[in-house]
Amino acid sequence: WKPILPALLLIVSPVCLGTHVSQTRRFPNDFLWGVGSSSYQIEGGWNADDKDESIWDVLTHTHPEKIADQSNADISADSYHRWRRDVQMVKELHAGTYRFSLSWPRIMPGGYMNHVSTAGIKYYSNLIDELLRYNITPTVTIYHFELPQKLQELGGWTNPEIIPLFKDFARLVLEMYGDRVKIWTTINEPWHVCEHAYGLDYMAPSYNFPGIPAYLCGHNLLKAHAEVVHMYRDHFQKRQGGRIGISLDTSWPEPRNPDSAEDREASERAMQFYVGWFGHPIFSKHGNYPKVMIERIRNLSKEQDFGIRSRLPEFTTEEIHRIRGTADFFGINHYTSNLVTSNGHNNTGGFPVPSFNHDMGVVESQNEVDWPGSGSVWLRVYPKGMYNLLMWIHREYNSPEIIVTENGVSDRGGLEDYARVDYFNKYLSAVLDAIEDGVNISGYIAWSLMDSYEWKAGFSEKFGFYHVDFTSPQRTRTPKISARVFAQICKTNTIDW
Ligand code: NOJ
Repeated sequence: WKPILPALLLIVSPVCLGTHVSQTRRFPNDFLWGVGSSSYQIEGGWNADDKDESIWDVLTHTHPEKIADQSNADISADSYHRWRRDVQMVKELHAGTYRFSLSWPRIMPGGYMNHVSTAGIKYYSNLIDELLRYNITPTVTIYHFELPQKLQELGGWTNPEIIPLFKDFARLVLEMYGDRVKIWTTINEPWHVCEHAYGLDYMAPSYNFPGIPAYLCGHNLLKAHAEVVHMYRDHFQKRQGGRIGISLDTSWPEPRNPDSAEDREASERAMQFYVGWFGHPIFSKHGNYPKVMIERIRNLSKEQDFGIRSRLPEFTTEEIHRIRGTADFFGINHYTSNLVTSNGHNNTGGFPVPSFNHDMGVVESQNEVDWPGSGSVWLRVYPKGMYNLLMWIHREYNSPEIIVTENGVSDRGGLEDYARVDYFNKYLSAVLDAIEDGVNISGYIAWSLMDSYEWKAGFSEKFGFYHVDFTSPQRTRTPKISARVFAQICKTNTIDW
């Protein structure tokens, strides 16, 4: 037996392990690998030095009952003090970039230029220097859900005054960090910022008024984004040599019945409402909101839309030109898919306070799918959705350069996170399929470096490569199995498929 045993094992093992025989797949040579986090989710130090309150401090302190475990991120992973360890972890993962965000109320406590925090400026400056010491490129998000509370009291993103205020904040950080930061995104997940925070009460400030404020928010946000990009291009980019974009987000709307034209149209409509709302004004050839949004929300009679001429604000021609083309790359955050079908309404009239889904005319659900679940009710594993989404962006916006700025999966805890390993292998394989089919994808930033505060889910859902012991004063970080696998992926530029 002895001499033929190895040969026998080779034949038998694929049978025992199932039919899947592993194969190595390689990414393009200069592909950028990264991991991400955001300020409120990891930093803690909520009132350290002269930091003022953000909308999340206020929501979690005044309405703990709205958070799944009644927690807040006052301390969270304590990255305000433990950032050196964070950088070590990024290095251990062999990631080429670390995507993090800047807390506006930490840098500019009241939201205005009249008070700039030296401690706040220094915190990110130190973090950037430490990353560069290890040859890790910082990818910096200027806004990731952390609005100074004082600005929310003026109406937040629904007040056009946010445009010059955001521009002031951006000018300051570009001046402070732009010599060292070469990848910028202005705003993380505008759809989330507007629909989930103003249309619904899913995110702070929990304004929860469907129908009008979300579109006002989107309008101001697009103009604020464009002003920052113009400022960067006019005053910083040449000298500093970086690039700037925006991170949009969407699930993939899979037609419930692929043979039904109505379901396919519902899927296309959903893409125009989720991605097109912000993507069309910035990335399409002619700019402006998608035609289908204008038709369904603006072009209604007063009777159809309870007395208001247009809930979707109108851009002037000058504004359309100013917003169009304001991104050097297309950042996309993607996690899951839904089955979609039409709700059967041609327009949004005759509904008291129309919801986003009603405006869109789409019903979404995951009820009938057999896609594996995760630690979050909304997140089911459907890698094909990633491929379909990347192909859609490629076709719709004439092959922009795409960076996947977030992708990942949650569980409820534990170091042996084989489901996460499986998720990354499958989603990365879908990314590679898209690259092989001609989509220009230059980087992939996994979510997330470590377990952190998952907004209204509190600490109940874990997305990290590193487990964080939120009960220990040191907030000890321990690598999970997925950290070892991802480190191998970044190092070898390959996945085992
Ligand atoms: C998107 C957000 O940008 C991030 O903050 C969040 O933790 C992940 N999705 C997971 O829900």
